[in-house]
Amino acid sequence: MPFDANRPDLTIGVIGTGAMGRGIVQVAAAGGINVIMTDTRPGAAQEAREFVVKMLARAAEKGSMSAAEADAAGKRVRIVDSLAELKPCHVVVEAIVENLEAKRQLFAELEEIVAADCILATNTSSLSVTTIAAKLKSPQRFAGFHFFNPVPLMRLVEVIDGLLTESWVSDALMTIGKRMTREPVRLTDVPGFLVNQVGRGFTIEAAHIAQEGIASFADIDRVMRDVAGFRMGPFELMELTGLDVTQPASELIYNQFFHEPRYRPNLIMRARFEAGVLGRKTKKGFYEYDAQMKAIVAPESPTPTDMPSSVWVSRANEHGYHVVSSLLQSMGIALEPGAIPTAAALILVTPVGEDATTCATEQSLDPKRTVAIDTLFPMVKRRTIMATPITDPEYRRMAHGLLASDGVPVTVCRDSPGFIAQRIVSMIVNIGCSIAQSRTAEPADIDKAVTLGLNYPNGPFAFGDVIGPRQVHTVLASMSRIYGDPRYRPNIWLTRRANLGVSLLTPEP
Ligand code: NAI
Repeated sequence: MPFDANRPDLTIGVIGTGAMGRGIVQVAAAGGINVIMTDTRPGAAQEAREFVVKMLARAAEKGSMSAAEADAAGKRVRIVDSLAELKPCHVVVEAIVENLEAKRQLFAELEEIVAADCILATNTSSLSVTTIAAKLKSPQRFAGFHFFNPVPLMRLVEVIDGLLTESWVSDALMTIGKRMTREPVRLTDVPGFLVNQVGRGFTIEAAHIAQEGIASFADIDRVMRDVAGFRMGPFELMELTGLDVTQPASELIYNQFFHEPRYRPNLIMRARFEAGVLGRKTKKGFYEYDAQMKAIVAPESPTPTDMPSSVWVSRANEHGYHVVSSLLQSMGIALEPGAIPTAAALILVTPVGEDATTCATEQSLDPKRTVAIDTLFPMVKRRTIMATPITDPEYRRMAHGLLASDGVPVTVCRDSPGFIAQRIVSMIVNIGCSIAQSRTAEPADIDKAVTLGLNYPNGPFAFGDVIGPRQVHTVLASMSRIYGDPRYRPNIWLTRRANLGVSLLTPEP
């Protein structure tokens, strides 16, 4: 169907003028599009229009548009009281309450009002686009148009093809998204779309690590910031979003994927959700807060001054050996040269996806003197070490003292296949690869969506390529073997590219 998404008189209807609707109105009007908006709550649309006009004026004050442009944008926004008045719209975007029946009923009514070539779009964040469209007379003109909160600041918009969506519809939404100065990314309808699906790797895997008693919330947050380069740790992020949002979304994605273990939710999140311990909005979550709403974080335990008399580093992982030996050399520490450690030496291993116990037992090393170091990530801002359950505490302290002796903080976690950063980042990469394998979206678009929508330092493919597809595969394969949990099985997209020694971005024609 010919649809001119660039027409100067393009008119968008926005239904629901809450947090999302008003943001969509603002970016549409700023992008030169006429907007007609409506809301069932009396006065809501008026409030939203005042808010949008204020925001446009503020944008003009900050210099991102001229005062005349802001004024013109404000004048493009019109309020109506009934759905019938949306008749002239070329596109209608719905941002009402997140309820399937409410959305279905709204679109059924709307279908009778608008022209046959009017595009119908939903801003749903968790419902299936295909399911919302299923009862429509013409589901082929229906698509997802998923913005992020706050809309004016979050440039990403996911354009989602439902099963029956015709391509002219999503093509038009891609163009309209760009007119709104957004960065649109196209995908087919799947639970959690792109951003919310990949986000499960970060938050839920962190919760699994905490639940296993491997590290505290604060330690996991520190490692993910300092070692893996995230702006915010997974628990800090959940505190901000609130478990009333994160937990239902996690359970929905898991259930919609027919209990795919990769998305398995976690009990510590569920318990907090049930108890109403939701995060910053309830002034208590994974952290406690002081009167100024600053998280109360226990200080890190002091760095021990113990140093080993001799150090032996395993060569089982050549890369890890070189990383540790050059680090220790730079500290002026000489390593034992022998093929096996001497009787009192501190034994350092550098596992990829294994725990310290597996390394010690499989390499026939003395577990009482064995400590593992994570060498997969830069060791510049923080280092992570872990010991076996029977490592002599004195040896653990010596390893801690040694690795912190140049002033870089060290996090000591309990024994864990994949430490902290290895396993969380590998889960993110694995989920990204499973999205690419199912042809939901192009790998580069998945990376773009994740960096723009989640503010991660890298998308799954860039992360995987920097660490190395083979290394990520090894982390997951080792975790899968040690835990015996299909949650960690490497996706076939990742496995093939790791075996072929090529970039994770490598497409398959
Ligand atoms: P909100 O509660 O702030 O606003 C919803 C608005 O819709 C309210 O003003 C309400 O009066 C109005 N409304 C409810 N039923 C209506 C109907 N039948 N007809 C007309 N207006 C109606 O909700 P919010 O946060 O703006 O979410 C709206 C939609 O956007 C939901 O589907 C949500 O899942 C989705 N979304 C929300 C995000 C967020 O972070 N808040 C992010 C991305 C999507």
